[in-house]
Amino acid sequence: MTLKLLPLLWLALASLAGRALAWQAECSAFSLPSSVASSGTLLAATYYPAGALVNVSSSGGAVLSSSLPAFCRVQLVINTGSRNLTSTEVWLPDAWDGRFLAVGNGGWSGGVVYSDLAYSGLINGHASMSTDGGHTSSSLDGTWALNDPSAIIDYAYLSVHTSVVVAKQVVGAYYGQEAFKSYWLGCSTGGRQGLMSVQRYPEDFDGVVVGSPANWISHLQAWSVHVNLLVSPQTSPSWISAATWELVHQEVLNQCDGLDGVVDGLLNDPRKCFFRPETLACRPGQNSSTCLNAAQIGAIQKLYADYYETNQTYIFGRLEPGGELAYATGLLGPTPVELNTDYFKDMVLNDSNWDYTTLNYTTIQLADEIDTYRLDAVNPDIRDFVSSPWNGKVIHYVGWADQLISPHNSLYWYEQMTTFMNLNTDIDVDDYYRLFTAPGMTHCAGGDGPNGFGGEGQSAGGQPPLQPDAQHDVLRAMIEWVEDGQAPDFFIATKYVNNNASAGVQMTRPLCKFPTSIVYNGYGDTNNAGSFYCA
Ligand SMILES: *[C@@H]1O[C@H](CO)[C@@H](O)[C@H](O)[C@H]1NC(C)=O
Ligand SMILES: *[C@@H]1O[C@H](CO)[C@@H](O)[C@H](O)[C@H]1NC(C)=O
Ligand SMILES: *[C@@H]1O[C@H](CO)[C@@H](O)[C@H](O)[C@H]1NC(C)=O
Ligand SMILES: *[C@@H]1O[C@H](CO)[C@@H](O)[C@H](O)[C@H]1NC(C)=O
Ligand SMILES: *[C@@H]1O[C@H](CO)[C@@H](O)[C@H](O)[C@H]1NC(C)=O
Ligand SMILES: *[C@@H]1O[C@H](CO)[C@@H](O)[C@H](O)[C@H]1NC(C)=O
Ligand SMILES: *[C@@H]1O[C@H](CO)[C@@H](O)[C@H](O)[C@H]1NC(C)=O
Repeated sequence: MTLKLLPLLWLALASLAGRALAWQAECSAFSLPSSVASSGTLLAATYYPAGALVNVSSSGGAVLSSSLPAFCRVQLVINTGSRNLTSTEVWLPDAWDGRFLAVGNGGWSGGVVYSDLAYSGLINGHASMSTDGGHTSSSLDGTWALNDPSAIIDYAYLSVHTSVVVAKQVVGAYYGQEAFKSYWLGCSTGGRQGLMSVQRYPEDFDGVVVGSPANWISHLQAWSVHVNLLVSPQTSPSWISAATWELVHQEVLNQCDGLDGVVDGLLNDPRKCFFRPETLACRPGQNSSTCLNAAQIGAIQKLYADYYETNQTYIFGRLEPGGELAYATGLLGPTPVELNTDYFKDMVLNDSNWDYTTLNYTTIQLADEIDTYRLDAVNPDIRDFVSSPWNGKVIHYVGWADQLISPHNSLYWYEQMTTFMNLNTDIDVDDYYRLFTAPGMTHCAGGDGPNGFGGEGQSAGGQPPLQPDAQHDVLRAMIEWVEDGQAPDFFIATKYVNNNASAGVQMTRPLCKFPTSIVYNGYGDTNNAGSFYCA
């Protein structure tokens, strides 16, 4: 560097430092605008200079980092009108890009999702918000809801909506100008919350990105208990151990992996796999750890059947072949997941002693009655969101190997919404709602398939998008769609070695827009997205 440049460098550094000091002063002096005084209380506004230690955690997600950009952390209590108990944070970067982002929760978790505030919001320059939904709990624990309908309403929709209204005012007051666009990023419960905003509060967001949404809670929970009962308890003849699931997985690959033209351990479109577990039936004298008995075969046939129906009522979609390695640690353990049984105990029946083996159609009907327009976000009428003046957009993704919410829930919702909207509007669904499927990806992230593309939790979990651009990052794709009218036809997802970005890239693949799926061009490197197209 020449000596002539030094004074310039000093000037630049001094003005950066000066700007940081100005933001620090702004943050320390921050107070809530009077317009939201009845719905928000400021607990604290704390400035973190660039590189300061940020060490915050909740059941929703933790951050422990000394490499974040400078920001002001605003902590609020939100009065939803139902209760005054929601904890919400807004993180305001010095280097703001003018956008507002809200991120969603997981399971029944009551905890601000710090990890996504940092790694989906802050590092991308967005002013970002997350809420605990009105209670403190782990993602599996639903006991906070027992005999407390107002806590349920908060978690269902009021906490997010009221927080969004207040947070947008916080952004406007802090920067002296409002965010010019607002986005949602959420998976699972976060997906439900995103669809809830679309259905109930069309003015809240310009673009909503949802992954594998738990949007049909009443049916999802019934299905979850039902599929568990097909294999549990561990003493049942139909019980399938993790080791046996591995055997089944291998047989699924033997039968179906090559159907898509590439033998790579992934089913690009598992709907094309008509898996026959009977090929693994135990022969006389065969060691039972290497084959399936009749009860196990029956259970697998039911799990992979078209859908779960009872009393002539459609309940939920099926599990897909290909996801076996995660089934034993997901829904198909020795007992149902607590999250699923707590739903009936604490949100439907008010009976902590409910015995899940007695789940029956009357209880499912009761759940349906109670949760329609409460926790369930299944109203296919999204006309207000997608038409003028809001012109909102939705990007939806789901992993074909989802072990917690049947991927068919996403397809079912998409078809219900499409049917209603086509019957009632002139707008082409493709102009406002696009669904993408991820082969081999488990619930929201992880699995054997490419699973890093900017979805909620992925960056925080060590699988960031390969490049910070609209081709690799679903949130940037949404921003381009909303702001430039460039709608995505596919994304490129990345599979890192051992699902760990620092271990290097294993492969990239396109995620295709439903109903298309990935096709191999027949000659290119199968680890390279460029060797595939969507058809
Ligand atoms: C982070 O915070 C936790 C809980 O307050 C504390 O136990 C831990 O020592 C902190 N870590 C660092 C590196 O400061
Ligand atoms: C809401 O709760 C906060 C903190 O607990 C309290 O300071 C505030 O006065 C309450 N607001 C209302 C409207 O009750
Ligand atoms: C459960 O309890 C709540 C609050 O006490 C009540 O509103 C609701 O009707 C009860 N549900 C049933 C199924 O009894
Ligand atoms: C069956 O196979 C398992 C696993 O390979 C082995 O541990 C077990 O000893 C075998 N049982 C018999 C009866 O051979
Ligand atoms: C269904 O389950 C509920 C709740 O456990 C129980 O009260 C009811 O008696 C059951 N109904 C039938 C028909 O078994
Ligand atoms: C559902 O079907 C079962 C089996 O056919 C029957 O016993 C039960 O009464 C039905 N339940 C309701 C609520 O219709
Ligand atoms: C990811 O890989 C790096 C380097 O190979 C290693 O240090 C780190 O512990 C790994 N992280 C996880 C979560 O396994």
